[in-house]
Amino acid sequence: MSLADFLSSLQSLQDEASEAFAKVSSQQSLEDARVRFLGAKNGALRQIQKQLGKLDKDEKPQAGQKLNEVKRSLSAGLERATEALADAQSATTGPPADPTLPGEPLRLGHIHPITQTMDHLKEIMGRMGFETAEGPEVEDPWHNFVALNIPEDHPARDPLDNFYLATADAVAGEADSQLMRSQTSTVQIRVMENRQPPIRIVSLGRVYRPDAPDATHFPMFHQMEGLMVDRQVTMANLKTVLRVFANNYLGSDVQIRFRPSFFPFTEPSVEVDFLWNDQWIEFGGAGMVDPAVLSAVGYDPETVSGFAFGLGVERLCMRRHNITDIRDLYSGDMRFLSQF
Ligand code: PHE
Repeated sequence: MSLADFLSSLQSLQDEASEAFAKVSSQQSLEDARVRFLGAKNGALRQIQKQLGKLDKDEKPQAGQKLNEVKRSLSAGLERATEALADAQSATTGPPADPTLPGEPLRLGHIHPITQTMDHLKEIMGRMGFETAEGPEVEDPWHNFVALNIPEDHPARDPLDNFYLATADAVAGEADSQLMRSQTSTVQIRVMENRQPPIRIVSLGRVYRPDAPDATHFPMFHQMEGLMVDRQVTMANLKTVLRVFANNYLGSDVQIRFRPSFFPFTEPSVEVDFLWNDQWIEFGGAGMVDPAVLSAVGYDPETVSGFAFGLGVERLCMRRHNITDIRDLYSGDMRFLSQF
C-alpha cells in the first residue's frame, strides 16, 4: 500500500463517517455508526490503522499524524451525534419527569347540593327531636290519597296530574294501581300505621308531578315532611317548630307567617311563609292532622292530636344559595354543581 492510498482511504472514511453521524436518528443507529467506524476490533478506522505497518518507515510520521487527526474528528463527530440525538429526544418527550413536583390533581366528586341540603335539614330537625323516616317512591293510592282523606273524585287524583305506572292489570287511579308518590305525606301514613304516639319524624325525599320544567318547576323535586303526634299537640307547637327551623336554616331574623288554606289531611290547614330579605315567600303547607286521618291509621282522635307540614327542599336550598333556576340543580353541569 502506498502512502497516497493510505491517506485517501482515511479521507473517504472521514467523509463516510460524517455523513453517517449526520443521519443518526435513534440510539440504535448511533451505536451502529460507532461500531462501524470506531469499533476497537473491527471498526473501519482500526482496519486502516492495521495497514500502517506496511508503509515505509519515512512515510509513517505523516500517515500517523493523519490517522490521529481523523480519529479525533471521528470521536468529535460521535459526540456531536450523541448530543444531537439527546436534544431531539427531549424536544419530543419534554424534560425528564421531576418527582418533586405536585401530581396531577384528581377531581374529587362531592355531594349534590340537594343532598347536602337534606342532610342539613335532617340535622336541624334532629336537634329538635325529630328522627328521620323513609318511605317508597312508588306508592299505592291508599297511602298517597285514601288514608290522607283525599276522596275518589278529588282533582288531585286525576291521572293527568300524577305519574301512574303502566301496569298490565290495573287502571290508573284504581285501588290496585301504582304511582310515583306526589307528596311525602305518604310517609305520615306509613309511620302511623306501624307505630304508636308519641311520634316526631321528618321524611325527606323525591316526589313526582307532571309539571313542565321552568325556573320554578320540575317534574321531580324534594319535600321535607314533618309529623308530630302526641297528647295535646297544638298549632302553637307547629308554629314554634317551623320558626326555630327557619331561624336555623335561613337566619335568626327570619319571621314566619301562616295563611289559611286547605288540605284534605289537615284541619285547620295553612300555607307557611317565611319573611326573608323583606319578602314573604311560601315554603309549603301545614296544619293539624285531620281526625279522619288519625282514625284511618287506628289512632283515637279524642286522645291524641298532631301537626304535619310539608316544605319544598329545592325552594329552601335555592333561597339559601341564591339559585334562581331549579333546572340548574338537575342539569348535571359541573360548572354549576362544583360551586356547592
Ligand atoms: N303534602 C302537601 C303538598 O304537597 C303539603 C302538606 C304536608 C300540607 C303536610 C299539610 C301537611 O302540598
